[in-house]
Amino acid sequence: MHQMTDQVVDHVLRHLGSLREQKACLFASRSQLESLLREPAPETGRDLANVLADVDTKIGAHACRINHPRFLAFIPAAPTFVSILGDWLTAGYNFFAGVWLEAAGPAMVEILVLDWFREFLGLPDGTAGLLTSGGSEANLTALVVARERLRPEERSRAVLYVGQQRHWSVDRAARIIGLLPEQIHVVGTGGYQLQASSLARAVARDRTAGRIPWVVFACAGATNTGAVDPFDDLADLCDRERLWLHADAAYGWAAALLPEGKALLRGIERVDSITLDPHKWLAQPYEVGGLLVRDGALLRQAFAMRPEYMADVEPGEDEVNFADHGLTLTRRFRALKVWLSFQVLGVGWFRDLVRHSLTLTTYAEMLLRTSGFEIISSTQLSIVCFRHVRPGLGEDNQDRHNRRLVDAVRASGEAFLSSTRIGGRLALRFCFVNWQTTAADIDAVVALLTRFVQQEQAGEMEPTD
Ligand SMILES: Cc1ncc(COP(=O)(O)O)c(C=O)c1O
Repeated sequence: MHQMTDQVVDHVLRHLGSLREQKACLFASRSQLESLLREPAPETGRDLANVLADVDTKIGAHACRINHPRFLAFIPAAPTFVSILGDWLTAGYNFFAGVWLEAAGPAMVEILVLDWFREFLGLPDGTAGLLTSGGSEANLTALVVARERLRPEERSRAVLYVGQQRHWSVDRAARIIGLLPEQIHVVGTGGYQLQASSLARAVARDRTAGRIPWVVFACAGATNTGAVDPFDDLADLCDRERLWLHADAAYGWAAALLPEGKALLRGIERVDSITLDPHKWLAQPYEVGGLLVRDGALLRQAFAMRPEYMADVEPGEDEVNFADHGLTLTRRFRALKVWLSFQVLGVGWFRDLVRHSLTLTTYAEMLLRTSGFEIISSTQLSIVCFRHVRPGLGEDNQDRHNRRLVDAVRASGEAFLSSTRIGGRLALRFCFVNWQTTAADIDAVVALLTRFVQQEQAGEMEPTD
């Protein structure tokens, strides 16, 4: 066991130690991978060292390095080494984190970690929650809990309000719980935010039409733009109208670690429920998301069931079965990696990470402007959306030009960017959550983009469309 462990540890350390020298993205087609990996399930085993070599050359060689300092696409993730070890401990112990009877210590750590998150965000005592596989599961769980506020006969008339910048996992969650498309109302946004005034008009219209306004699903850090909805205004309206206010803060919640970040999330402490992913901006390895619900008792009301063969697991008054708070019975001890990394690094380390990301964002915005790029939406949290405008090109051709820039960066392997559409225009995006990204990385990526712009202008770049 020691020998095998040493081999795996060496393998991971070599990978992490050389990350910066590796390509940020490595692709392969299905047919390439079929020819590399397809085989019947092996009847007899072989040497671990031999298998690890295959992991490197046949598998790892064809996957992006999400934690590469220049992987700035989508919402990336860059776990701390301590939290990677925490995940390994979780697998090693394999505690059953579903019921108190079987894992009281792990349940207490999950309670504690969720309480820390609650305190960062300023939610009151009585709030409860659970750690999930990620934001998608947390968003679905939130809708199931919010449904407890409806009588069964009201369900078909209930309306869910979302903004244009929502994450699509809410649409999928709505579909899973059986909402019809006409029960989802997209409320007009101004400047990418869900405006309380537009929402108030939509709610009034729906009440007049006999529908039942139910949940407002707002964003604290939209995936596209980083936009934060005006939670104070939305909470005032939701109080008046008795609506459930949910914050999808899967990405943005970690800003609450800093006073200036808390100011950006103003009003978030007033929500009924909040999705927060430690595996995004809190440097934790996949998978760990989370949900907090202000009226914590509703979680049990929505999920707890006790068949005969589970009668033994009934928790005491002040104990928690996390299996009673969500979809899964068998659960891994996800809280351990968060707890371990807070213990070893201190919350100060995570505050520094968020501060560092915000500083990089300001720097990137300034550098892009002075390097001839246009900032599209105003920068929020740690996301910058921008594009290059090539003089003399029409709108469609500007989009193609920017598409070629994204593709050229990806093909170089030196960085990985993603694109999006904002106000109908194609935009490039930077998202900073990685503790290893430096200002020099931003210099290098902007220099790369500038080089591709020049090559294109000189007619040296292969058209991709
Ligand atoms: C705002 C937001 N909500 C929800 C999700 C879904 O989270 P997950 O991918 O952890 O399921 C994402 C993922 O990027 C997100 O950015």
